[in-house]
Amino acid sequence: MTRMPLVLRGREFPIPVVLAPMAGVTNIPFRAQCRQFGPGLIYVSEMVMAAALVHGNEKTKKMVAFGPDEDFRSLQIYGSDPEFVGRAVRALCEQDIADHIDMNFGCPANKVTRKGGGAAVPVKRNLTRAIMRAAVQAAEPYGVPITCKFRIGINDDIVTFLDTGKAAEEEGIAMIALHARTAEQHYGGNAHWEYIAQLKQAVTSIPVLGNGDIWEASDAVRMMDETGCDGVVVGRGCLGKPWLFRDLVDAFSGNDVQPSPNLGFVLNVMLEHAQGLMAIMGPEFGIRNFRKHCGWYLTGYPVGSEVRRAFATVASFAELQEIAARLDHSMTLVPGGERLARGHTNGPIKVVLPDGYLENRDDMTLPDDAHETAVSGG
Ligand SMILES: Cc1cc2nc3c(=O)[nH]c(=O)nc-3n(C[C@H](O)[C@H](O)[C@H](O)COP(=O)(O)O)c2cc1C
Repeated sequence: MTRMPLVLRGREFPIPVVLAPMAGVTNIPFRAQCRQFGPGLIYVSEMVMAAALVHGNEKTKKMVAFGPDEDFRSLQIYGSDPEFVGRAVRALCEQDIADHIDMNFGCPANKVTRKGGGAAVPVKRNLTRAIMRAAVQAAEPYGVPITCKFRIGINDDIVTFLDTGKAAEEEGIAMIALHARTAEQHYGGNAHWEYIAQLKQAVTSIPVLGNGDIWEASDAVRMMDETGCDGVVVGRGCLGKPWLFRDLVDAFSGNDVQPSPNLGFVLNVMLEHAQGLMAIMGPEFGIRNFRKHCGWYLTGYPVGSEVRRAFATVASFAELQEIAARLDHSMTLVPGGERLARGHTNGPIKVVLPDGYLENRDDMTLPDDAHETAVSGG
């Protein structure tokens, strides 16, 4: 099978690795940490709502910001009304905010799917196409590529990924990514990489990326070997572990991957990450926002529950430094620590769709969330 190069806006990305958009995580400071370890990859922002972009929501404006040294700006949007998506994409392009726009068709949150939005949208084939078309047409004059990310389907009986992939190819989408779980699986169980292989077989004219359960660099190489996909999208594996991108660059360049770092290295990255968040969000909110990252950074380091609790309630940078200073910096990761899950792991969930939703899969009725301005997640 021929592997397609990842080329977006005329730029080729020789290392086929993409940071997955993660709401509440993949903001400027986190992307900066990742980029430091793996320059030249595709790092996607947090998701923003098309409707909020159209309404010029202040919080959203902040979320679409990129750092001055981000030389390729990838932004994810969510929307289920073709008109709003088109207007949002046009506004982003007119203001030269992004070099690449990704669209999220995989959000499994119940409050979204029960209104026919998120991961429920691909069930409606024509609506999905119309959303894609609106985005592509709005971005085309500016040369901004549109990509899409979606799941296998709703559950084992309602499987949509092949239709969605073919539609993307026909509607001018530049690249697609499959999170190889159903919405029902949520984040539980294992990702079904065999569906990535099926998608790669079916979609032959644009790159197909695989997503799900890449915890170590060797997983990414294995996913590409086993499925034939053109690249990988990495989510939870890099939570508290931005050096995973260094490992991925090494693995794809044929270099040895470095052993897991000792705690001293991890603590230094933590302090830098916390400072980054504080610079953007202000000291108080920044340090509070950093708390959730502490648990991820310490995954697999046997620091004890008291230390974990101290990190989880840290209230200032000085306190963070003080806790870090108390620890044994030579501590190493427990065996197998690399593969301990971080971030969401819950699932399966019961997916509720609107009444009668499956009766006509070709209608163009807009989901009730179409003008929603605040949804998060994928
Ligand atoms: C905290 C968190 C937030 C997420 N937010 C989004 C999002 O905004 N958009 C999206 O497409 N996927 C989102 N996802 C899903 C990831 O992009 C990815 O598809 C999923 O985590 C599976 O990949 P992984 O096994 O490498 O984590 C999110 C996942 C997590 C853990």
